[in-house]
Amino acid sequence: MANILVTGGAGFIGSHLIRLMVNKYPGDHIFNLDALTYAGNAENLKDLEQAANYTFIKGDITDFTFLESLFDKHQFSGVIHLAAESHVDRSIANPMAFITTNVVGTVNLLNAAKNAWQDNYEGKRFYHVSTDEVYGSLGAEGYFVEETPYDPRSPYSASKASSDHFVRAWHHTYGLPIVVSNCSNNYGPYQFPEKLLPLMINNIRHGKPLPVYGDGSNVRDWLWVEDHAAAIDLIYREGLNGETYNIGGNNEWSNLDLVHKLCDVCDELLGRPAGSARKTITFVTDRPGHDQRYAIDATKLKNELNWEPQVQVEEGLRRTVQWYLDNSEWLENITSGAYRDYYAKMYQER
Ligand code: NAD
Ligand code: DAU
Repeated sequence: MANILVTGGAGFIGSHLIRLMVNKYPGDHIFNLDALTYAGNAENLKDLEQAANYTFIKGDITDFTFLESLFDKHQFSGVIHLAAESHVDRSIANPMAFITTNVVGTVNLLNAAKNAWQDNYEGKRFYHVSTDEVYGSLGAEGYFVEETPYDPRSPYSASKASSDHFVRAWHHTYGLPIVVSNCSNNYGPYQFPEKLLPLMINNIRHGKPLPVYGDGSNVRDWLWVEDHAAAIDLIYREGLNGETYNIGGNNEWSNLDLVHKLCDVCDELLGRPAGSARKTITFVTDRPGHDQRYAIDATKLKNELNWEPQVQVEEGLRRTVQWYLDNSEWLENITSGAYRDYYAKMYQER
């Protein structure tokens, strides 16, 4: 039995990854280390409460002593590191939290793994889950490949780029067995409703305006979250030591086109007249430094590990909207209290 530490497993992507791993590998024990920040929600893995091969640990990756004691106690053979501050707008408002968690927290975890494993790296793996935003912003043409030079532009992407560099430095300097992946925008159930799609779905439910930044021409490459989880699982098990893999949906949409599509699906599933939601689109002040376009070339992952996205956007959007409509209590819980205050302030400022 392998003990595997997943960080940030109470968040959006982490919860999908843990569900996949706990169900697929009954012989492995999955430990979920999560600080339960505003973005972490124990409810996301309620269905695993009784699973014999799953343990939740509330804890902070910025606490090195705590990390060392965890490695000592559980003898992990692998780490899949997702814990992070993940929202670009928040990084613009409060960059320090991103440096503390994404940079210092990652280095803490690298050091804890190195100290625990350095006598014998055999069978060990440190997997860092990162983002395509480290590559910067594309014009109308071209794609990010694994060799694209780093050019982060927001405090969030600068913190993730920094953490990627530290992970590779621990590999080159100390021999830590690592693997890194850089992925495009994920969507699906359990995403915190500050991100584009769940925020829009929630506002449509409540008949509130739909805030599109700038002119809505920015392009993102959208990937169904379970496709990302499957890619992480594959890379964790079969990726080569020291390598980087890009993960993407091959699925580019301008924000405005995607919001239009989402509006139409919402109208249909809510039984409202066609065109209702589109009427509530409001163009608001642009995000400072807003990256124009991201697009991933995932050829390496396809050729070397035979991975391809399985869910197309038509199906994925319907499944996403239906999930949020079926789980309105989850949405209400998460948007009450402190978050509601935060969101009200953000919205006023734009
Ligand atoms: P999320 O914000 O939904 O979840 C982050 C989780 O990390 C939360 O559960 C939170 O409680 C936890 N966390 C935060 N700070 C912590 C700390 N100091 N110690 C322990 N736990 C802490 O994020 P997500 O969207 O699921 O993203 C997960 C990872 O994937 C991040 O590293 C992100 O950079 C990366 N990523 C995300 C996307 C995307 O589209 N969402 C795309 C590519 C890469
Ligand atoms: O590319 C991967 C990244 O995707 C991840 O690393 C990040 O963790 C994740 O948050 C996401 O970053 P984005 O900034 O692309 O996602 P967000 O959902 O915040 O915004 C998507 C696009 O929609 C972006 O161009 C900004 C725009 N937007 C966003 C919000 C919240 C709006 O127009 N209106 C909004 O209200």
